[in-house]
Amino acid sequence: MKAINPFVRQRDFNRASRPNFAAFAPHRARVLHLLETLAATTPTPNSLCILGAGNCNDLDLPRLTALWSRLRLIDIDLEAMRSGLTHQLGASVPPHLELTTCDLTGALEHLHELIHTPTSAALARLRHALLQTPAPTQIPERFSAVASTCILSQLTDLIRHALGPASPHLDPLAGLARLQHLRTLAELTAPGGHLLLLADFVSSDTLPALRHAAEEELPALMNQALSQGNHFIGMNPWHIHQDLTQPPLANLWAAPPSLSTPWRWNLGPRTYLVTAIQCRKRQRI
Ligand SMILES: C[S@@+](CC[C@H](N)C(=O)[O-])C[C@H]1O[C@@H](n2cnc3c(N)ncnc32)[C@H](O)[C@@H]1O
Repeated sequence: MKAINPFVRQRDFNRASRPNFAAFAPHRARVLHLLETLAATTPTPNSLCILGAGNCNDLDLPRLTALWSRLRLIDIDLEAMRSGLTHQLGASVPPHLELTTCDLTGALEHLHELIHTPTSAALARLRHALLQTPAPTQIPERFSAVASTCILSQLTDLIRHALGPASPHLDPLAGLARLQHLRTLAELTAPGGHLLLLADFVSSDTLPALRHAAEEELPALMNQALSQGNHFIGMNPWHIHQDLTQPPLANLWAAPPSLSTPWRWNLGPRTYLVTAIQCRKRQRI
């Protein structure tokens, strides 16, 4: 199958999953609970930034706009965010909710180039782009909490899509994209603020037992999948945790990052296993 323009591919994914608001309900409740807990430990006025808001199907916008004094949603797909707002808030979008369109990788044009012209110069341009953090440059404010809602798997998948699954460059570049995303989260977080990364790391396509396992069996299923290398490219939660505890990020945290017990995100034809990785930035670095 011919690879297609990375932005068009993301937009088409978002259009296809837009009608799934009802199916997202249990996952949305999990995400809300995590964000409610963060809001409860954050002095007001507080601010929340969400990366990968897309259709907002995993975000309870009425509740989040009530909990946070400022709320900024970021995604590459403005159409998806606008339709999410209309769906949940109608015409009454509060002024403290703002949208930002941003390619968090700054690399989509290079991925597009690689699809058509896979040269070493194009690879070098991609690598260079992944060493930058465009969002904190574009957005001057820093937030009491920054949450990444199942977007990292999309970012690493963009690289797999452009390079192909057999490329020897895939693993290192997916690792670079993961580190770029963690740096973006860290840079957008104010001193003393919270970082929350929701990682969907494997699906029922390669872990069919996920569909019918009991809730209490999910941690064992997670360990089994990870020990067999059964996860999306660059999405082993232990590797994400490791990136957070190594330079250049290691010294930023008030306490070691934590990993939640996993839960299921059911999307009809596919079920995903998701975990939350959390840490809090030191007041003084
Ligand atoms: C799986 S969706 C997250 C779920 C979404 N919050 C929802 O409720 O529909 C991943 C999101 O990442 C966004 N995305 C993918 N690549 C991106 C990039 N390079 N920069 C910013 N956003 C990107 C997609 O547009 C999509 O909305």
